[in-house]
This record gives sequence, C-alpha cells and structure tokens, in this order.
Amino acid sequence: MTGDMPLVILDSVGFEVGAGESVAILGASGSGKTTLLGLLAGLDQPSSGSVTIDGTDLAALDEDGRAALRQRTVGFVFQSFHLLPALTAVENVMLPLELAGLRDARAQALRLLERVGLSARGHHYPRQLSGGEQQRVAIARAFVTRPRLLMADEPTGNLDAATGASVIDLMFELNREEGTTLLLVTHDESLARRCGRRLRIAAGRLVADERTPPPHQAATRAEAEAAARVEAGETVVEHRPA
Ligand SMILES: Nc1ncnc2c1ncn2[C@@H]1O[C@H](COP(=O)(O)OP(=O)(O)O)[C@@H](O)[C@H]1O
Ligand SMILES: [Mg+2]
Repeated sequence: MTGDMPLVILDSVGFEVGAGESVAILGASGSGKTTLLGLLAGLDQPSSGSVTIDGTDLAALDEDGRAALRQRTVGFVFQSFHLLPALTAVENVMLPLELAGLRDARAQALRLLERVGLSARGHHYPRQLSGGEQQRVAIARAFVTRPRLLMADEPTGNLDAATGASVIDLMFELNREEGTTLLLVTHDESLARRCGRRLRIAAGRLVADERTPPPHQAATRAEAEAAARVEAGETVVEHRPA
C-alpha cells in the first residue's frame, strides 16, 4: 500500500528486443529497473501498456498461462538469488525441469553445475555456499531449461570483481553458443559495454537506447544475426507504453 494516490513507477517505456540480442538495462537505484524486469517476465502486470513475448501478449494470459510461458521461454536470475534453502544446489537446478515434467533432470542439472564450475558442490545447501556460488547456482537454474530469453537483475551486484567477471563470461558464452537473448539489469558500465545494446532508465522513463557496434561490425555472430532478425521483424520481447 502506498496511500490513496496511485504511484507511477514506469511511464513511456517502449522497446523491442530481437532474438539473440544482449541488452543492458541501466539506471540509478530506484529508477524502476527491477519493476521493468518483473513486468517483462510477467511476474507483475502493468496498469496500462502491454508486454509481448515471442508473439504472445502477456495480458491475454492468466497467471497459469504466464507461468507456463515463463517456464517455456524465460530464465530469471533474481537480485537476491531466491534459491530454495531446503534444497541442495543440484535440487535447486533440477526444479524447473521437474516442474516441466522432464525426465533426466538430475543429469542435466549436474551438467549445468559443471558448466558454472560447481560440480563438486551439488550436494551443498545454499547456506553452505558463498554469495558468488549461490549466484552461479541461480544462473545454472535459469539456464537449465535452455530458455530463449535470460533476464538477470544485477547479476554481479553481490559479487567481487573476479567472480562477477566469470559469471558474466558465462552468460555471454551461452548467448554466443545457444543464441540466448540476454536482458541484464546492471549498474556496471563495463558489463553494459559488452552488451550489444544499452537501455537507460531514469525516474521510470526510457531516456536512451544505444546500439553499438553497428550491425556490419557486430562483436559476435550472434549479435549480427540478432540485428538481422530485428531488421526482418522478428521480435522476442516487445514492451509498449499505453
Ligand atoms: N511493491 C512496491 N510498492 C511501492 N513502491 C514500490 C514497490 N516496488 C518498487 N517500488 C518503488 O518503485 C521505484 C522503482 O523501484 P525498482 O524497480 O526496485 O528500482 P531499481 O530496481 O531501479 O532500483 C522505487 O521508487 C521503489 O521505491
Ligand atoms: Mg533493482
């Protein structure tokens, strides 16, 4: 509750993201980045405007439908990890596969834990892991379903520089190797520069949409392909103001 007056947190934020793009969302603390990511993932609903993922308007779905779309399409890394404390690392990573009714969940989860350098820690509970290790488990969990779209809220915010760099390298590797679209909320300009695109939010408004490098000299093939798909009109995420 915030009293009688409606509180406007985001306003006039409109953009499209193409398949395979890597996009940084930048802005001061309190500018609305986490709120935006929650809307894009269908965890929250906008009071006006729309969010379209893979051609589906989230407003056309009920809560179960949004959850199912998320399960199929989106990996989400929360700012505070949100690992389940009563489950071990490998069980946390298995969970989205089990929810999707897939067999072979443990083997796949172990593969992903190996990928993030934690194969020896699968049997440990979150409280037995450092912040950086928990973050890597959260990333393994977000990637284990091979989502087309990964959203991460300040993925390096709680990590020291070296651990942060390895987590980021991992996300860009998956972007290159799997064509995963990345939407990364960050304060970190050097991370933002590694993305093909930067959206800047100030006081709930989109104030800049920077694309570098241009498509003809894109940093990676995935970026070049993403730019081509945007030109061809293929959109993965679209957020339109009212
Ligand atoms: N549940 C809520 N109720 C009221 N205000 C909120 C809520 N969540 C966020 N806000 C407000 O919305 C604004 C944007 O918050 P947030 O999206 O968390 O910003 P950021 O992630 O950029 O730091 C802030 O002013 C914050 O206080
Ligand atoms: Mg935030």
